[in-house]
Amino acid sequence: MKRIALAVVALLSSVSASAETPDSATVVITAARMLDVVSGKIVQNPQIVTENGRITLVTTSDRHVVTDARRIDLGDLTILPGLIDMHVHLTSDPTLSGMQALSYPGSFWTVLGTAMAKRTIEAGFTTVRNVGSADYADLGLKMAIERGAIPGPRIVPATYSIGATGGHCDSNELPANYVFDRPGIADGPDGVRQKVRELHRRGAEVIKYCATGGVFSIGTSVGAQQYTQAEMNALVDEAHMLGLKVAAHAHGTNGIKAAIRAGVDTVEHVSFADAEAFELAKKAGTWFSMDIYNDDYILAEGAKNGVPESSLAKEREVGLRQRQTFQAAWKAGVKMAFGSDAGVYPHGDNARQFAKMVEWGMTPIDAIRAATVKAAEALGREADVGQIAPGRYADIIAVAGDPTKDVNLLRDVKAVVKGGSLVKDAR
Ligand code: ARG
Repeated sequence: MKRIALAVVALLSSVSASAETPDSATVVITAARMLDVVSGKIVQNPQIVTENGRITLVTTSDRHVVTDARRIDLGDLTILPGLIDMHVHLTSDPTLSGMQALSYPGSFWTVLGTAMAKRTIEAGFTTVRNVGSADYADLGLKMAIERGAIPGPRIVPATYSIGATGGHCDSNELPANYVFDRPGIADGPDGVRQKVRELHRRGAEVIKYCATGGVFSIGTSVGAQQYTQAEMNALVDEAHMLGLKVAAHAHGTNGIKAAIRAGVDTVEHVSFADAEAFELAKKAGTWFSMDIYNDDYILAEGAKNGVPESSLAKEREVGLRQRQTFQAAWKAGVKMAFGSDAGVYPHGDNARQFAKMVEWGMTPIDAIRAATVKAAEALGREADVGQIAPGRYADIIAVAGDPTKDVNLLRDVKAVVKGGSLVKDAR
């Protein structure tokens, strides 16, 4: 009781202070309902007070009314925290797969990224981790978004994905004698340390590396480990020393375990993880970020999009197995965060993955937590995103109905507020 009274006093005094600034920074957001993602309960008539983009008070409309503020009333909708995707490539286009992608210059992909950033935020994803792009394009996008020049989500940029020579993060499709720059490539414990330092110096906020082969690379075996334990240990040690989290691309069993043993924060894809990998992950507190919607899209559209047959064959090996692993890992108690690999499938369709997560063993609220409060934890950004709670950014989305009854409502986000500003209103 006492605490609430104090909060209101603090609130009122700060309201009058900010009223002096021409465009009042206080914004009050109301709606018919709010999904509290922590408790899983629906709250009636929420009222969210925000100041300078951050939430200062979460209450209900029948409590106190702040008069001196701008209002965003989301009417009969249900609000919930802005969604988080741990694995996107904003500068990729799935319909330009395979060799045809090589005829577009770097500038093309950066420009394309501006459109994909808009699609992403309009789909309700207000924070994304961009785990690999060329030319530092994710940094440029992030800066343009932060300046307000273009709409888009908050971006945690990895810049280049780090990978071994000839591995999944290399570019193996060109002729053997063709010499070109491969800024993400590093070998040996010292080499990967140096690469981490270099990317950190240039602005990477997370380190992404390839621990095993993959589906879309040429000439890699999807299950094969591509860095030694010593290389992974050095890479993770260096990143952590610099305060950066590490995401490891890993499909194969041994590569997954080596990555977990090295201490990575998240493992991506995780297709062939076994029971021992689950135990290692649980003990180390490692998160899995599993892109289990992808398989449907790749097998349906891949050939048309230019994906080579060698990759489609690998996808047929991985798709079903990855979903079974997802189910088993969740049942075993491994921590899960939502990662879609959008870019491999169309940006803006990120939320299609929720139904897959439910189909493969999660309750709807757990799938929603994986993309909100849990993803924020996995990012180490609990102070900023993932919950409608005081101190965090006022990143709020609205849907028509209760998403814990039907997760597909998240595919039709009606309104998006980012940092207290309405960036989409499709009511
Ligand atoms: N980027 C990943 C790779 O090339 C995509 C894997 C997609 N397939 C899947 N079943 N999740 O390996």
